[in-house]
Amino acid sequence: MRKIVLAGNWKMYKTQAETRSFLQGFLPQINDTPENREIVLCAPFTDLSTLSGSMHGSRIMLGAQNVHWEDAGAFTGEISGPMLLEIGVRYVVIGHSERRQYFGETDETVNKRLKAAQKHGLTPILCVGETKQQRDNGETEAHIFSQLEKDLVEVNQQNLVIAYEPIWAIGTGETCESKEANRVIGLIRSKLSNSNVSIQYGGSVKPDNIDEIMAQPEIDGVLVGGASLEPASFGRIVNYK
Ligand code: 13P
Repeated sequence: MRKIVLAGNWKMYKTQAETRSFLQGFLPQINDTPENREIVLCAPFTDLSTLSGSMHGSRIMLGAQNVHWEDAGAFTGEISGPMLLEIGVRYVVIGHSERRQYFGETDETVNKRLKAAQKHGLTPILCVGETKQQRDNGETEAHIFSQLEKDLVEVNQQNLVIAYEPIWAIGTGETCESKEANRVIGLIRSKLSNSNVSIQYGGSVKPDNIDEIMAQPEIDGVLVGGASLEPASFGRIVNYK
């Protein structure tokens, strides 16, 4: 059975005070959310600490946005698996296009982070996706297959979520057409050894397109940026119809 995973990626947004205010608005909205939907908040590290202290009894799962491959060491600015585990983090976003584009993340470092996350029992959310130029050149499939091949070397597909995030659809308001997202996600699945890996779509997911996206048979969830920052909009997303 493929799990439904609805995750917010807060990126570098929200102070701790803003996080507390988000929770006040969001928690009442998930009282009736069906049990089989996993709700995840991938928040900045400081906010994870706030969330971890104030969410006992809540069904929200905590997710980080990075993890280093070593358990400890001289790696300024990084965070380790044991540090995340200690505060109850369960998921970690790895290989997001913003990290690949701005922070020198490569398929090799993505692979090391994936294996480290799994070593500590964290579930990685591996992001893959093409640029506008790659799509226009007809290179979408080849690019994504190459990412999968390199990123997933020796990665355990029993504890893995993948997010298909076409880069041209991130933060642009331009959603990938849901049938096209479904097609690409089906292709991603065809390359996996475990067909039960949950595969999300990400890129301008909003309250007004979530129902159509989640109606697609290959799509097992979403990774949401901007629309996960407001309690009402993320509430509508996790309560998709
Ligand atoms: P937006 O939902 O803001 O387009 O961001 C998508 C994303 O990058 C999630 O990881």
